[in-house]
Amino acid sequence: MPRLDGAVQLPPRCPRPSDAGMTHHEGFSELAVQLQEQRTEALHHGLDLVGQAWRSFDQPRPAQPPISEHTLQIADAPLPSTGVGVPAALDVAAHILDESLAHARPRYFGYIGSSGLESAVLADALATSHDTNLAAESAAAYVVEQQALRWMAEFVGYPWGGGTFTSGGMQSNLTALMAARTRAFPSSRVDGLAATSPVLYASSDAHSSIERAVEVLGLGSGNLRRVPIDGNRRMDPSALRELVRADLDAGLVPVAVVATAGTTITGAVDPLDAIADVCEELGVWMHVDGAYGLPASSTSTAGPLFAGLPRADSASVDAHKWMFVPKACSVLLVRDQENLTRAFRHDASYMVEEEGFRHPVDGTLEYSRPFRSLKLWTALRAHGADAFRDAIERNLLLARHLHALAVEHPRFEPLLPSADLSIVPLRRIPSSGDVDAHNMALAREMQVDGRVYVTSAVIDGTACLRPCIVNYRTRTEDVESIFAVADELGTRLETA
Ligand SMILES: Cc1ncc(COP(=O)(O)O)c(C=O)c1O
Repeated sequence: MPRLDGAVQLPPRCPRPSDAGMTHHEGFSELAVQLQEQRTEALHHGLDLVGQAWRSFDQPRPAQPPISEHTLQIADAPLPSTGVGVPAALDVAAHILDESLAHARPRYFGYIGSSGLESAVLADALATSHDTNLAAESAAAYVVEQQALRWMAEFVGYPWGGGTFTSGGMQSNLTALMAARTRAFPSSRVDGLAATSPVLYASSDAHSSIERAVEVLGLGSGNLRRVPIDGNRRMDPSALRELVRADLDAGLVPVAVVATAGTTITGAVDPLDAIADVCEELGVWMHVDGAYGLPASSTSTAGPLFAGLPRADSASVDAHKWMFVPKACSVLLVRDQENLTRAFRHDASYMVEEEGFRHPVDGTLEYSRPFRSLKLWTALRAHGADAFRDAIERNLLLARHLHALAVEHPRFEPLLPSADLSIVPLRRIPSSGDVDAHNMALAREMQVDGRVYVTSAVIDGTACLRPCIVNYRTRTEDVESIFAVADELGTRLETA
């Protein structure tokens, strides 16, 4: 019978062999990699462990357990020639995970975390079970991946032109810059770059993936101009204009300007509209690295910061950061899909294309590609775009609360006048001694203590704690606990 799926009536699924009807081929013994009659037990066991993990993320942990002797012994064991069975192996895996850092915990404020959104985890397990390959024709999966790209474009407010799912911000940025390189030097794929003089631009706070991408693409990180930033650590568009003009006058070829929509270090959003003015005026590819910050463009409070985004040639956004889905899931959006095709297309003789159809591999770097879009698609379908917007808006609210608390607190200070997004660099001021050394030591102490996980950063030579809030599980008391724990451990450091 057809099943009801929300408002959509699904057609009957294709008949499939039941377990009871499974046939065994004569002459072959069963292989140990097959689960056979253990399948149900393994499935229930795995689900039980997933359920335990999810329940443990509902509340903060009182401490982070150290790596046990038992785990170290397991990690030292030689390659086993026979197995222990799936339930026993999964138990050990769960134990190892319990002794690992989990970004999904509500008081994980390090780097830029991810939340392991439960609905997306289930969809990911389903996608992995089918192990569909999105490199080539994949029937319905391809259609849905295209829809997920369109949904992501709509969510962040970028005009639909095309794009690709990738494994992360690094790869999305690399893919975008390969497209920009091909536009600047159309014959470079064949001839190389020896006869060219490329130059690229990004703020001094741009993520190191930009520098790495420039190096991998053979453009040379020495040709990456660091555009000065203002007091809010946003790119200065007038300085950008001057740099590009000077380079054009010198006969160099500007390949791309990379604006960051949410820098990794402080969450600053570069002025996209003013940068787009420069790029349009001087004919340079504009890429927006929104790996972390771009989902906030969907919110009413931070949305205005992203004005000008639709004018960019390309934009990257990591769904595994602020769309909460598990790694690895990033999206590169482009205004014109042809730019990706020109950069990546190869006519492999074993991948013949029907008229009017291009294999997805022709617009991206990877060959074998998992159906990573299904987790984002399922989560958007399950919860709706408003639910994501609300969760991001709450993270923004918590970040502003954290900033206000740092202003009010007698022993803490924020490094910046306000937080553009959800990163709030702040530091504790000890009663005496070196403030930088104190904050570096404090971050380390907090990581060992394990109640609250924050990482340190050094901004223009000033050491600080750098909490980042991108987890839908994080609540007000979690954010406030940063001060309680930091002050307790900071006081202990002072008296040690
Ligand atoms: C602004 C920005 N761009 C790119 C990246 C790289 O993303 P990924 O780690 O998914 O490769 C990051 C990672 O934090 C980032 O913050």
